[in-house]
Amino acid sequence: MRAFRAAILRFADDGAAVYDEDGLLVVGPDAAGRQVVRAVGPYHALAANFSGVAIEHLPGSIIAPGFIDLHIHFPQVDVIGSPAAGLLPWLENYTFPQEAKFADNAHCGELATFFLDELLRHGVTTALAFATSHPSSVDALMEASQRRGLRMIAGKVLQDRHSPDGVRDQTEQSLIDTESLIRRWHGKDRLGYAITPRFAPSCSEAQLRGAGELAAKYPDVWIQSHVAENLDEIKWARALYPASRSYLAIYDDFGLMRERAIYAHCIHFDDEDRAMMRSTGAAAAVSPTSNLFLGSGFFDYEGADRIGFKYGLASDVGGGTSFSPFHTMLAAYYVGREGQTKPGVSLSPQKLWWQHTAGAAQALGLAGVIGNLQPGCEADFLVLNPAATPLLARKTAQAKSLDELLFSLIVLGDDRAVERCVIAGASGGAP
Ligand code: GUN
Ligand code: ZN
Repeated sequence: MRAFRAAILRFADDGAAVYDEDGLLVVGPDAAGRQVVRAVGPYHALAANFSGVAIEHLPGSIIAPGFIDLHIHFPQVDVIGSPAAGLLPWLENYTFPQEAKFADNAHCGELATFFLDELLRHGVTTALAFATSHPSSVDALMEASQRRGLRMIAGKVLQDRHSPDGVRDQTEQSLIDTESLIRRWHGKDRLGYAITPRFAPSCSEAQLRGAGELAAKYPDVWIQSHVAENLDEIKWARALYPASRSYLAIYDDFGLMRERAIYAHCIHFDDEDRAMMRSTGAAAAVSPTSNLFLGSGFFDYEGADRIGFKYGLASDVGGGTSFSPFHTMLAAYYVGREGQTKPGVSLSPQKLWWQHTAGAAQALGLAGVIGNLQPGCEADFLVLNPAATPLLARKTAQAKSLDELLFSLIVLGDDRAVERCVIAGASGGAP
């Protein structure tokens, strides 16, 4: 066992932040050999119980759960910052040409390494990631993640129509490839597979039906897709699937709404859509930097909380503009303010942080496994430096409450505040 003494941030079951200014985090193997949190709490209450354990003292640092990115595209690193009139021209002019490059295995390997380095540098220890339609892009990301001991969830994109040569797949083969990738990767070490229809407009009925059949056959596999992001996209989806009540209902009609189904964006919903999210147990990946960059719209936090469905935060790189969870939380704050009709709803820094850690874990069905530092959680955590820049140091030194401290980090923080990233109890997540 090893122990760390520092300020420690974690979350209670109801989502409230728990903060020990002088805390002790003890990590070690559980009965199954996984590196987990064995004990956590105030240093003075716990230290005597662990007198034989080496304690690393980190004065001035904050230990916090690793961030979870609920929706990101590993092949879109080189798409970040590509301006377009909206989603559909952005896909056609920038995204599909970049994703076509993943037919080359060497490119897959190089980008997988770069992508994981970038996630970890920014303090993201788990992501739900799109690969491309090329099965080898999944292999590259999974192999690289496995080498670093990461809990990573990813899937091969399904897109058998309305997609150019180079990224379009073939219906029957795409489903065979998906099933063999599930068998190869799902549940191996810390890896998970996500069935990944790109979005309804790029998938034939046969492909969505096949995806739904795989989802029924493998109930603990994840599902990820996009929905209700952009008005032109919605019009197109409705025209292609006129029998469905709404864009979201298309996925339900094909058996793709359930626990462990994560839908990116979920902006242009009505209350029936929100009720369907709640009743099926699906969750939204709120992607504010992407939605602002592509002009897609604003996630309705009040609507989500009024009806009560699960959601968490995501970068959506490369529609999103940054890997940084701090930037994403700040953008979510702006969006929450924009749509605010009652003061205080959804906007507290504790809630924003929860949406990117324990709340995101809950959306994935992994509460108590990742995204938190309660006893039994896997030991993925960050050592944050609240004095990483002169302005951060000045501002955080004046914080008189946890809210003020977290807000300073959200507004002024970035990768410079992430001093260390610990994966399964070991520093670095090195390849
Ligand atoms: N809809 C379908 N594909 C994509 C994608 O790659 N990014 C975003 N933001 N939306 C999509
Ligand atoms: Zn996306």
